[in-house]
Amino acid sequence: MSDIIQLFKDRGQGHVFTFFDDLSADEQAGLIAEAEQIDLDEIETLVSELIQTKSAGNDAIADELEPADFIPLPENGDPELWAKAVKKGESALRTGRVAAFTVAGGQGTRLGYDGPKGTFGVTPVLKASLFQVFAEKILASTRLYGRPIPWYIMTSIINHEATVEFFERNEYFGLAPEKVHFFSQGLMPAVDADGKILLAGKANIALSPDGHGGALRALVRSGAIREMEADGIDVLSYFQVDNPLVRCIDPAFIGFHLMTNSDLSSKMVPKAYAEEKVGVFCQKNGEALVVEYSDLPDKLATELDDNGDLRFRAGSIAIHIFNRAFVQRLGSGKDKSAKLPFHLAHKKVPFLDLNGETQEPSEPNAYKFEMFVFDALPFAANPTIIETAREDDFSPVKNAEGVDSAQTCRDDQLRQFARWAAAAGIDIETDETGLPPFAFEVSPLFADSAERFVERWNGLAAKPELTNGVVLI
Ligand code: UTP
Repeated sequence: MSDIIQLFKDRGQGHVFTFFDDLSADEQAGLIAEAEQIDLDEIETLVSELIQTKSAGNDAIADELEPADFIPLPENGDPELWAKAVKKGESALRTGRVAAFTVAGGQGTRLGYDGPKGTFGVTPVLKASLFQVFAEKILASTRLYGRPIPWYIMTSIINHEATVEFFERNEYFGLAPEKVHFFSQGLMPAVDADGKILLAGKANIALSPDGHGGALRALVRSGAIREMEADGIDVLSYFQVDNPLVRCIDPAFIGFHLMTNSDLSSKMVPKAYAEEKVGVFCQKNGEALVVEYSDLPDKLATELDDNGDLRFRAGSIAIHIFNRAFVQRLGSGKDKSAKLPFHLAHKKVPFLDLNGETQEPSEPNAYKFEMFVFDALPFAANPTIIETAREDDFSPVKNAEGVDSAQTCRDDQLRQFARWAAAAGIDIETDETGLPPFAFEVSPLFADSAERFVERWNGLAAKPELTNGVVLI
């Protein structure tokens, strides 16, 4: 009997191999390979700490929480400092210190789209994919700063092949293929209430990605960090695959990160209202952290400061910059005092029972373990948080309908294009929310900011009329 089967038996997980003798040789090898990925010590600890021990609740932390400091936008703060940051960021870009990094390993269950989320079409006219939008932004920055910007994309085993195939089919959207790097994140098994690992089928364990926080160890395990070191890259511009408004490469943000010698920098937007479902940047005993909306006590979530603004208003929008050495430290797992915790999610997970019957639970039956990238914050030296305008950086596609859907994201892109057009003096009709009554589109290759738009527009010999269906490329 294979050692791994014996090990699983010894640790009370032998049922994973219930159907082993019915499998073909290939299937047996596949199941063993899946089992080998699982760290049984880690699972045992998580089961005992997260499932079998009830959490103490969050009231205890409330008294110690303070709002995190942040650097306000130039119009609310210090324009000269912002100008200095832009210069610093531009210089880092010109010397090739920066890589873009997208986490795209999620399962996108809420959107319910069949395929990697990055392949989902989002732009108002062409329905260009999320990946295309980011690729064109990165290409635009590459052209502007005269240095190729490598792009690291984290997938999971579930969507890896389809993601790479999409880039190949689309010729990497004009990027140099050798500058686009894909790697897969780790997987974690789902377990039942007794900590037993669930099977997805006779030859498969119920595995799912280990959360966006898994990015740190995947960057190290895949060799990506070593490769960055060899290429002189020490700044990783992190963004999620579902937010086409993000400024993938933002010189001011990069500049602030470098000027403050930060391990991990973050962007915040003021929360739109107290109950908004975003995490909030806080500090506790001098350390920065993100408190999830569900964990922020009501009395803090609604508290106002002297100006009548929400006191805890720094909403996290999952846009960060990592210092490479910091990723190495956290991701390698060698520093036992700096480890991302796992969070527990109680979910409905279809599984194969030990009679070989597939069960489709109608109630949550299983626990999944996930790490969150913002949990790196308390370990970071000089964590820097800067304010950004929501309309220029954040409109995620999470849901099929309603808030944060393809429709709201399309409208937010159109509002941005209309603002850029207005900045160039183009008379464009909009409603009171800034939304034009027709769809047009500005490719990032034409312009990826208001300033660039004005410059490019003024330089056009023949200016098209901005009407329905027009695309500026
Ligand atoms: P979400 O938390 O929105 O999760 O991910 P999701 O899997 O995309 O969507 P739902 O919750 O199933 O509907 C935020 C970002 O983190 C990435 C996602 O790809 C997205 O860019 N992510 C999430 C990973 O890369 N790996 C994960 O394990 C989880």
